[in-house]
Amino acid sequence: MVRRPRRLRRVSTIRRMVKETYVKVDDLIYPMFVKHGRGEREPIPSMVGHYRLSVDELVGEAGEVLSLGIPAVILFGLPKKKDDVGSEAYARDGIVQQAVAALKDRVPELVVMTDVCLCQYTDHGHCGILRDGVVDNDTTLEILSRIALSHAEAGAEFVAPSDMMDGRVKAIRDTLERDGFKDTGILAYAVKYASSFYGPFREAADSTPQFGDRAGYQMDPANAREAIKEASLDVEEGADIIMIKPALPYLDIIHQVRSHINLPVAAYNVSGEYAMVKAAAQEGWIEGDRVMMEMLLCIKRAGADLILTYFAKEAAKSLIEHENSYTEN
Ligand code: PBG
Repeated sequence: MVRRPRRLRRVSTIRRMVKETYVKVDDLIYPMFVKHGRGEREPIPSMVGHYRLSVDELVGEAGEVLSLGIPAVILFGLPKKKDDVGSEAYARDGIVQQAVAALKDRVPELVVMTDVCLCQYTDHGHCGILRDGVVDNDTTLEILSRIALSHAEAGAEFVAPSDMMDGRVKAIRDTLERDGFKDTGILAYAVKYASSFYGPFREAADSTPQFGDRAGYQMDPANAREAIKEASLDVEEGADIIMIKPALPYLDIIHQVRSHINLPVAAYNVSGEYAMVKAAAQEGWIEGDRVMMEMLLCIKRAGADLILTYFAKEAAKSLIEHENSYTEN
């Protein structure tokens, strides 16, 4: 018997019938950068189409995000000033706390997630509190818990620790429960690699470490077994959603974590992945829109349920145009 798999690829109607994976607008989470001031809309050069927005501008853009059907945003804050303990990160009137409150007031249906980390807020640019020049894990846990609590108090539905300290999901979960925030979820950056793909983000957020690197707390890109260990620990500690980051060069990790873990799995299609596509598309070397949709589709096929992506708005528009099912190539 001759085997002819091409029978199922012959025409687009049949292709539609046997399609295994879809990207939906519901899968997307849109990262946004918020700064102090009014009427501020400062373009981020390495992330075309993204801005550092003041709260009023953020609210306007969040309305657009919701109207496209995107269910959630994740916020990154730019403080007024930095210090050695990142005190604006947990200040009641810090920039993220103000932004969350404004979004919950003005665009209440939009799910608000917040990045919980210190690197944008510390003068040394590391993700924790330093002791003798190294990030001290357990001191950092106390500060991270304070940050998470302040975001929950402002109204965030999910807090997302991205620091890679040991035990931080448990510390944050305990603090939230103790203070009556039992419904605030934790999106854990469980499997976060020490990656060079974060370059544009660090420019956007002004969070480059002033000395050394993050290899002492973020994971070695060479390691896959360790990803299962990290994800399992965060599940035990009480995470609601497990995230892998970056996405594109780590599809094998997404796949493995998906098959070991019963929680929703999110993947972060990071700034460097976005910038590469944008730059090549600008040069006319690739078709940006198609490459974007193929990337997102492949991240889903690998096993991600949710994708944090700077493409969320563009992808949503493209999906609406293609009636929520991007098929043809
Ligand atoms: C904060 C944080 C980073 C990113 C998300 N949260 C930077 C880093 O760890 O250096 C990167 C996101 C991106 O590149 O899009 N720790």
